Amino acid sequence: MNTELLAADKPADLNRAAALLQQGALVAVPTETVYGLAANAADPTAVAKIFQAKGRPADHPLIVHIPDLAMLEQFAIKIPATAYQLAAAFWPGPLTLLLHKAPDVSPVVTGGLETIGIRMPAHPALLALLQQARLAVAAPSANPYKKLSPTRASQVLHGMAGKVAAVLDGGPCQHGLESTIVDLTGEQIQILRSGPISATQLEQVLGCRVTTPLQHQVKVSGNVGAHYQPNTPVYLLAPEALLARLASSNARRAVLYYSALPVTNAAYQQQLPATAAGYAQQLYHQLFLADQQGVAEILVEQPPHSPGWEAVQDRLRRAAHHE
Ligand code: TXA
Ligand code: MG
Repeated sequence: MNTELLAADKPADLNRAAALLQQGALVAVPTETVYGLAANAADPTAVAKIFQAKGRPADHPLIVHIPDLAMLEQFAIKIPATAYQLAAAFWPGPLTLLLHKAPDVSPVVTGGLETIGIRMPAHPALLALLQQARLAVAAPSANPYKKLSPTRASQVLHGMAGKVAAVLDGGPCQHGLESTIVDLTGEQIQILRSGPISATQLEQVLGCRVTTPLQHQVKVSGNVGAHYQPNTPVYLLAPEALLARLASSNARRAVLYYSALPVTNAAYQQQLPATAAGYAQQLYHQLFLADQQGVAEILVEQPPHSPGWEAVQDRLRRAAHHE
């Protein structure tokens, strides 16, 4: 398959992307979090192609992206008031609501589960595309299974060229990490995946406690230990341990740090922003670049454990997970 590169700011290209989705083809699309691999959510044959292209197990559920609130009721039932409160506060935006699925939603979309993840994405080109095509799309991140999520169109092509009909280039992603997933189907409101919207922000809107269990039974592909991994092994280290490892031998290493570390003897080094949002926006991109330097290891300085850094900590822990 010859993958077409389309530009999100060209109306003719948006039309082309809409037509491809309507025909049941896969189109990688920009979102405000990471790039997604989209198929018409109402077409199970199209959705099945996503699993093929990603090499993702069929029982891993997908998030459905809707262009307007009216569509929520096409995909979910028994929608609690909390869902509407959160939608009013955070949609369009990086928050996925886990709800009970409507009976006619194909089990291909939900990996056979009775629940469904739904969000309204904030990227203007994607919203325009979905409104124009009058459809919702099922879309996981546009990376091969377990690899880094792409935050640039060029990175999508790196992993998916030849496997998708088109990539819609909408520029670098604003947040750089996947959406927060909040489960509204149980008695307790729980965050299943940390993301740009924090527990505190959710609590302020809901006026009740939102927990973030470290371990949960819910099937979230990001919930497997090793995930979001570059090909090069990643080591997450405190500053002293990182500098000691650099000094220990002349192995070719890449170093990603954020504080004023006196880094020497590194084959490649990059300083990331010291704010949580700035760091998150850069993280996958910098891991991707470091992965291309022909180094033996990527050493990452352990970032702060302070509030606001939960999603960064979560992704780094998984990137540095060694079996
Ligand atoms: O920001 C995002 O959420 C990006 C962009 C493209 O929207 N999407 C994304 O999709 O990260 P994906 O498939 O890479 O991760 C979605 C996560 C998976 O871990 C999946 O298991 C979980 O959402 N998920 C989806 N539906 C679910 C369900 N019904 N129950 C539990 N987890 C679900
Ligand atoms: Mg993913």
